[in-house]
Amino acid sequence: MRHLIDFGDLSRAEWDTLYQRCSDIIDHPADFLDVCRGRVMASLFYEPSTRTNFSFQTAMLRVGGTVFGFADPRSSSVAKGETLKDTIKMVSGYADVVVMRNPMEGAAKAASLYSDVPVINAGDGGHMHPTQTTADLTTITRLRGTVDGLSIGLCGDLKYGRTVHSLIKALAKFKDIKFFLIAPRELAIPEYMRAFMRQNGMWFTEVTGLESVIPQLDVLYMTRIQRERFVDPLEYERNKGIYVLTRRKLERARKDMLVMHPLPRVDEIAIDVDDDPRAVYFEQARYGMYARMALLADLANQPRLRPEPVEIGKEPLCRNPRCITQSEHYLPPLVKDNSGVACCAYCDSALD
Ligand code: NCD
Repeated sequence: MRHLIDFGDLSRAEWDTLYQRCSDIIDHPADFLDVCRGRVMASLFYEPSTRTNFSFQTAMLRVGGTVFGFADPRSSSVAKGETLKDTIKMVSGYADVVVMRNPMEGAAKAASLYSDVPVINAGDGGHMHPTQTTADLTTITRLRGTVDGLSIGLCGDLKYGRTVHSLIKALAKFKDIKFFLIAPRELAIPEYMRAFMRQNGMWFTEVTGLESVIPQLDVLYMTRIQRERFVDPLEYERNKGIYVLTRRKLERARKDMLVMHPLPRVDEIAIDVDDDPRAVYFEQARYGMYARMALLADLANQPRLRPEPVEIGKEPLCRNPRCITQSEHYLPPLVKDNSGVACCAYCDSALD
C-alpha cells in the first residue's frame, strides 16, 4: 500500500498485518517509541476535527515522529487561492507522510496524484474515512475477538456518513456479516455503496426503525446526522433527532452488544448510556490512536517517489457538486468501473 485513500486500497492480508502491529503496540508500546524517529507528518485539516486530528498527532508523537500543519485553512495559502495540487507538491517536499481532511469528495485521491510521499485520507466530504475504519475494526476485534459472522446495525445518516461507507468497504473483506442499515429514506445509503454490497454478495437489509432490529445486533454503530453536508436546511430539520439511543431501548439489546460511534455525538446517544458496559465509543477513539500509530509506522517510513505526470483536465466529467473535480479543474478526468457502471474515480458518483 502506498496511499490510504479508500479502505479498498488495503487487502485483507495487509489489514491483518496492520492489525497485528496495532495489537502489538497496544500490548507493548515501549517497543515502538522510535519507529518514526526523524520522520515528519504533515497534517492538513481543511475541515473541523477533534479526534482525527489529535489522534493522528499523538500517534505520530508516540512513535517518535514530529508533526506540522494547519487545522484551519484560513491560516494557510489556501486562503490566497492556492490550488490543492500546489499545496500538496510543496508540503510533500517537507514531510514524509501527508494526512489530509477536506470537505470535497475525492480530495485525498486528487492529492495522491501529486504527492511524493504517502497520502492518508482523514475524511473527504461525505465520501470516505478509512482511518476511522481502522479504529472501528480494532475495537471490534479487540472486544469481540473476531469480526466474522457479526450482525451489525448502522444507524443514522448513511447518506453523508463517510465512516459508514468506509466500514462497509472494509467489511467486504470479512465473512458472513449481516448489515442492518437503519436510516430515514432521505438519508439512505448512496447507490454506489448499495451496488458495492450487491457486487460483493454482502447480506443487507434497509429499515427505518431502530427498535425493531436492536435485539438482533452484535454491534450497533450510531452516527450523527451530518448537518454541514445538507444543501437544504429543511432536510436537516426534518431528520435531526430522528434516532436517539436510550437506556430503555438498550434493555432489548443483547448483553454483549457493542454500542459504537465515531464521535462527535450530538443527541443520538443519551448521556445515560455512557455508563452501560456495552458503550465503547470512548475506547473506540483510543483504539483509533493505536491504529494510526501502526499505520504511520508503515507509511511514514516509505521512500519518496515522484509520481508519474498526469493529464491536465479541462472540464469536470463528474456532475456531483461536492466532487473535488468541480473546484480543481486541472485534475485529470479519471473514470472507474463500479459493478459495470462508469463512475468518477474521485468521488464514486455514476457518470451519465
Ligand atoms: C467522524 C467524521 O469526521 O466523519 N468523526 C471522526 O472522524 N471521528 C464522524 C462525524 O463527524 O460525525
